[in-house]
Amino acid sequence: MKKNILIVPGDGIGQEVTAVGKKVLDRIAEKFGHEFIYDEALIGHVAIEATGSPLPDETLAKMKASDAVLFGAVGHPKYDNDPSAKVRPEQGLLKMRKELGLYANLRPIKLFDELLGASSIKPEILKGADILFFRELTGDIYFGEKGRKNDGDTAYDVAEYSRYEVERIARKAFDAARTRKKKLCSVDKANVIETSRLWREVVQKIALEYPDVEVEHQFVDATAMLLIKDPKRFDVVVTANLFGDILTDEASQIAGSMGMLASASVGDGTGVYEPIHGSAHDITGKGVANPLASILSAALLLDISFGLKAESDAVINAVDAVLKAGYRTRDIADATTAPENILGTDAMGAKVLEFL
Ligand code: IPM
Ligand code: MG
Repeated sequence: MKKNILIVPGDGIGQEVTAVGKKVLDRIAEKFGHEFIYDEALIGHVAIEATGSPLPDETLAKMKASDAVLFGAVGHPKYDNDPSAKVRPEQGLLKMRKELGLYANLRPIKLFDELLGASSIKPEILKGADILFFRELTGDIYFGEKGRKNDGDTAYDVAEYSRYEVERIARKAFDAARTRKKKLCSVDKANVIETSRLWREVVQKIALEYPDVEVEHQFVDATAMLLIKDPKRFDVVVTANLFGDILTDEASQIAGSMGMLASASVGDGTGVYEPIHGSAHDITGKGVANPLASILSAALLLDISFGLKAESDAVINAVDAVLKAGYRTRDIADATTAPENILGTDAMGAKVLEFL
């Protein structure tokens, strides 16, 4: 298979982990006889520094022209404490999602058995947890009108959803539920929020097309509690943009570390694959970032955008084997990890390649 892959490392540790993810793609191409052609593009703070824009037109054009994008992270601490900054790295990410029509963000939360001890949740609660989140990614309060009034003393962000936006993400989640345990949990705040009431109405209607899938509706606050209390009760979860952002950071603890979680953003065109963690400037340049989320994002890319299931499984199995052999990055090490088995970013990447 011949494919064009755009590498977009972005900011902070995005650079370090994406380089490792690319090496894994390279090895897969070599091992399975594919030809992957790479190009690279800028986004986020590095793009602002180079061009003034967090998502240069050239990057967007390259994304649209490629078969898949392997993405790193965006963000820079200098903007975090400067609420008045007009141009921000995150704007590049949001514009990319909108422009590429990436309305469905899949975040699989699966605990590798070897990491049971890495989470702060009790092992007996965690063992066997396996959740697939569908986070809506191009609507909600993220994209509604926002601004200030009363001479800047009042701020507003409008949350908006249209029926078709809920329908298409719901269908994707129902389709996935069919291939798994035939259980779907839709999360909203329909007791208070109008967009949530539309959300629930639409999900109830789509549910009629999937009589074989058991549906439950939960409020977001209760879901936040249940995820920690009994993560195994969930299988496929579908929710709105902001709720999904928050719940998946929480759920990352079920997988031991944010450094383990990959995501796929798909929709109308090119799919984008990225770790759910951010740019982590506190550890940037130290060579200690966990590259496994980027490697697992590459696995999702192979499976979802290219339909290469065996290749994708080979990557996941290699990660599993490395963990079974006792190797850890700092974030997933525990008291039982031998100090010599705690690896940096590149060494962990090299181990995965070795097992591949
Ligand atoms: C994520 C991130 C982004 C989001 C930020 C960086 C804008 O937290 O992908 O989850 O809020 O969507
Ligand atoms: Mg987030």
